[in-house]
Amino acid sequence: MTGVITMAYLFSAVMFILSLSGLSSQETAQRGNLYGMTGMIVAIAATIASAAVGNYVVVAVAMGIGAVVGIFLAIRVEMTAMPQLVAMLHSFVGLAAVLIGWGGYLAPPEGQTHAMHIIHNVEVYIGIFIGAITLTGSILAFGKLQGMISGRPLTLPGRHWLNLIALIATIVLGVMFVPQHYSESATLYLAIMTMIALLVGIHLVAAIGGADMPVVVSMLNSYSGWAASATGFMLGNDLLIVTGALVGSSGAILSYIMCKGMNRSFISVIAGGFGSDGGAPADDDEGPQGDPTPTNHEEVAAELAQASSVIIVPGFGMAVAHAQMAVSEMTQKLRKQGIEVRFGIHPVAGRLPGHMNVLLAEANVPYDIVMEMDEINEDFPETDVVLVIGANDTVNPDAVERPNSPIAGMPVLEVWKSKRCVVLKRSMGSGYAGVANPLFVKENSRMLFGDAKDSVQEIIKHLP
Ligand code: TAP
Repeated sequence: MTGVITMAYLFSAVMFILSLSGLSSQETAQRGNLYGMTGMIVAIAATIASAAVGNYVVVAVAMGIGAVVGIFLAIRVEMTAMPQLVAMLHSFVGLAAVLIGWGGYLAPPEGQTHAMHIIHNVEVYIGIFIGAITLTGSILAFGKLQGMISGRPLTLPGRHWLNLIALIATIVLGVMFVPQHYSESATLYLAIMTMIALLVGIHLVAAIGGADMPVVVSMLNSYSGWAASATGFMLGNDLLIVTGALVGSSGAILSYIMCKGMNRSFISVIAGGFGSDGGAPADDDEGPQGDPTPTNHEEVAAELAQASSVIIVPGFGMAVAHAQMAVSEMTQKLRKQGIEVRFGIHPVAGRLPGHMNVLLAEANVPYDIVMEMDEINEDFPETDVVLVIGANDTVNPDAVERPNSPIAGMPVLEVWKSKRCVVLKRSMGSGYAGVANPLFVKENSRMLFGDAKDSVQEIIKHLP
């Protein structure tokens, strides 16, 4: 039986690797999901069939509750609330690692040699440490993304020193804990370390705010992978070790790519907070200097009809308005008239990595006209009309033009360089980072106020 289970685990691990590789492009994403689901079904079946599982009633009840909660969330959650949900799910992985770690300490496997006991204690200690950071960090990230906690970064004086002291205390406690068997002092060391790690999780995420949160969510994804991997070591489950390592490393790579995309330092994300405090939501009261020039649907339709090249830049507002279908219809109509229409996608547009790509794919926008920021940024000066649909921070000229802006240094889609830039949004309000956007008052910008879906549908009506 053990051989069959090992084979099943190996099969699942291969499925997970294929799943990750499938998810790397839109054309293969559906297949990637199928691989992932197949791998997970086989993994669950093999684990239930293994000798480690005895109490089938408890497993069935736990799986039943989990399935009901999962299905309920999957049906109810809005695409716009995905990052919160992901953050919440990461906290479960962290909680599981903490509980399994404590369980492993209180009821260690029998018949261990001294060396095995040391290794077991190291696994327990590291598992609880990473799990506790993931647990509270993810809960805090959930609160921030949900708007329950202020998005402002908490910058305690000497915060990096606090992190360093916590790290040193953790190492010292670990050295004292690892050689011990169950005892009052060992329990105390482990409890103090758990408390420190819980506080570190809060502190790391509290120090980050505004536009930098996406990187944190992906970093917590990575932490949750390492927590799962540590749990795999504690339970002696090879598949959990491999899967955790896959999640941990892919999350770390994604965080690195996002850091590069936002011109932030990877090391300072891991250490919590971005050295320059650049992630602060500014609630900028300065506001843009000048007045916006409003436009109307008829005028925009006429400009589009006369254009030979159009770039559509979608953002979070397109998701809120559920405007992707209307945008797709407008795109088809313009392309039928021989107008070149392309999409410019910022790496952190929306609220989760790939948010805009998913929405556009759902609306059947052809993949080959959906371009990444780097592929299209140089084309704006040659473009007749740019439609900014519910995007704000990702098209803010201050990021490149005002060095003391809270989002300075973040690469943005340079839409203001086009011949005409039309911004579709409901008001002059700011975006996620809370900074004012001078794009709205630029000379070649026009504001089309209103819900993005309504506006696009009205434009379609006026197109020839
Ligand atoms: P944002 O800067 O968040 O701006 C979205 C804009 O959409 C708002 O200014 C809002 O203006 C408008 N809007 C909202 N509902 C609308 C509707 N129904 N119709 C029309 N417009 C509507 O969006 P972005 O440019 O996509 O930038 C994303 C931001 O989120 C970045 O700061 C990014 O760092 C952050 N973030 C990203 C992620 C990931 S991984 N992508 C995760 C967390 C946070 P009105 O209220 O005036 O309509």
